[in-house]
Amino acid sequence: METTTIDEIQALEARHVLQTYKRAPVTFVRGQGVRLYDADGREYLDLLSGIGVASLGHAHPGLARAIAEQAKTLIHTSNLFYHPLQGQLAERLAQLSGLPRAFFCNSGTEAVEACLKFARRYWYTRGEPRAEFIAFENSFHGRTFGALSVTSNEHYRAPFEPLVPGVRFVPVNDPKALLAAVSRSTAAIIAEPIQGEGGVRPLTPAFASAITEASSTTGALIIADEVQSGLGRTGYPFYAPVLGLHPDLISIGKALGGGVAVGAALLSQKVADTIAFGDHGSTYGGNLLACRAALCFLDELDTGGLLGRISRVGDHLERGLRSMAARHPALIKEVRGAGLIWGLELTRDAAPVIQEGLARGVIVNRTAETVVRLLPPLVITEPEIDEALGRLDAAFAAVGAVQ
Ligand SMILES: Cc1ncc(COP(=O)(O)O)c(C=O)c1O
Repeated sequence: METTTIDEIQALEARHVLQTYKRAPVTFVRGQGVRLYDADGREYLDLLSGIGVASLGHAHPGLARAIAEQAKTLIHTSNLFYHPLQGQLAERLAQLSGLPRAFFCNSGTEAVEACLKFARRYWYTRGEPRAEFIAFENSFHGRTFGALSVTSNEHYRAPFEPLVPGVRFVPVNDPKALLAAVSRSTAAIIAEPIQGEGGVRPLTPAFASAITEASSTTGALIIADEVQSGLGRTGYPFYAPVLGLHPDLISIGKALGGGVAVGAALLSQKVADTIAFGDHGSTYGGNLLACRAALCFLDELDTGGLLGRISRVGDHLERGLRSMAARHPALIKEVRGAGLIWGLELTRDAAPVIQEGLARGVIVNRTAETVVRLLPPLVITEPEIDEALGRLDAAFAAVGAVQ
């Protein structure tokens, strides 16, 4: 059955799609770069990129060509056989991260699951099983049981308890509390270098060095969850090293496939040496289509010069956001982030700003209730930033006027 109007689409979903999402009443039908177009032909500037996924923007010609050509050749054969692209992708990720091994999966939460399992396996293989994980308040690592168990938000956790046992939450950016919590029972410390869903909160370098200290005194592994902050988002391939962290495991996803579902756990050789055949697996993980898309993204990031321009464009975005904050001091309390990941901490619920922005043709989202989050496509230009911030500024003015 063909559905056309938003009312028909909503009614059909209301009957048959599990109601886990509160969607905005907009249907996007096509995109071009940082612009999206709805069913009525209205144009929007996308400062969210499908929550950090459409890294090359929408309908990127190179990515579209790569996916189409791969689909015409071969999409999937399973991990029972070799294909030429997984090794190539793993090699490129090793060059970017310094971690020599990759396990491929299909999403961020699966990448986190893999890291948690590999950390447990590391200690099991060493004959010193360790059950505990240290995670942080305001953390978000995904919705599957393992990832949810290291996610702090009670609202996400409570209906599904009991979760994986042995997780302790430590206040973020509190080195003393961390050092007190980590022990020789800790399998791993899991950290988002910039907490994304928790409100765009970067770890402080002092806290990062406490993580390093806790790890080196107890042997606890370090897992950096770079699903949101990794792969160029901050202007660097990964944000953990910028903070001085040297993780044993890194989880990635989101930007990697530019919209094609792909995730990966990256491992140090020390951890990889403790994993055996059959320890973990995925039917789809790292199939030809996903690897082709990811290779195309990395080509743009790396050889295409994308990475080199993100810091400059990100500085421009930061300046624009700070001057917007200065124009709306009653609404915007703080501006946090790096590169092309930013959060505006408001003095109130962020929902009306998101709605007013949408009405004016700019897409941002609310996270941690009071934070307006921006995760634009990595290809965004300075003039596009100015145009989008003009619309966002008008949204703030509208919300401010009815305060
Ligand atoms: C840091 C982090 N880890 C894991 C995830 C889960 O990723 P996915 O939704 O692809 O499972 C997210 C998603 O927002 C995330 O931000």
